[in-house]
Amino acid sequence: MTLLITGAAGTIGTRLASDLAARGVPLRLLDQHPPTSPPPAGAEFLQADLRNLDPIEKATAGTSAVVHLAGFTHEGPFAGMVEHNITGTHHVLEAARRQHVPRVVLASSHHVTGLNPVDSPTAPQAPDSFYAVSKVTIEALGHLYAHKTSMQVVAVRIGSYRDRPTEPRHRATWLSPRDATALFYAAATRPLTCSFLTVYGTSANRESWWPRTGWDALGYQPADEAGYHPDAGPLTDRFMGGAFADDELPA
Ligand SMILES: NC(=O)c1ccc[n+]([C@@H]2O[C@H](COP(=O)([O-])OP(=O)(O)OC[C@H]3O[C@@H](n4cnc5c(N)ncnc54)[C@H](O)[C@@H]3O)[C@@H](O)[C@H]2O)c1
Repeated sequence: MTLLITGAAGTIGTRLASDLAARGVPLRLLDQHPPTSPPPAGAEFLQADLRNLDPIEKATAGTSAVVHLAGFTHEGPFAGMVEHNITGTHHVLEAARRQHVPRVVLASSHHVTGLNPVDSPTAPQAPDSFYAVSKVTIEALGHLYAHKTSMQVVAVRIGSYRDRPTEPRHRATWLSPRDATALFYAAATRPLTCSFLTVYGTSANRESWWPRTGWDALGYQPADEAGYHPDAGPLTDRFMGGAFADDELPA
């Protein structure tokens, strides 16, 4: 029943590991960098780079699920997105296939639909950056592995993970830390009848731009709502991706 978290030294991974360890979930943690604070008691930490297949294959052995959070989180040159996000995810999925891991959860992003205007009633795929293109690709890889192997894959299009909303757009996009823990744990453990599922990862924001499709299947019931934090100010973004949609492409 051991759960592997990649990107475990990062913002979301650190909190997720701490929350799940407190619930008694057996954990294995992986990141290319050592954690800034000691990992939770009982959790095994492996320092490894996902650009190499061998370490992640060893890390997945005997696990019941992988929550794959590792990757570049911000816009940057395309080559880095290919190496860390796309190749890294391919290695996670390939390792999971070889080690017969039944469930992989992928950290996708709302930026895969970031070029939709904020008043758009639907949000078809429209990546707003090289970063978002890498997330479109990892969703495609997840879909492929889910259909060609026995694993189930859940792609979570994370909104804006923050302790509390700090920008107007967070009224639509906010994902609180405790809701993130509930969502990722459900995505890793909830029995599912489908092989591949994509869900948006937000709190129960009344002003959300995205459907809640898949939340029922996961039994995800967020506890937080961005509207409880009214000091965020009026929305000025044109696109769902915010600044990612407006910025120039990097060289
Ligand atoms: N934080 C958000 O609001 C948000 C929104 C949408 C999507 N996401 C996605 O969620 C995931 C986690 O986000 P975060 O905010 O915790 O990011 P973060 O940058 O804090 O953590 C990412 C971690 O991945 C590790 N990593 C990167 N490349 C690696 C590699 N090749 N091998 C091993 N480890 C590697 C980094 O060392 C880092 O610790 C990311 O994939 C990000 O794209 C986050």
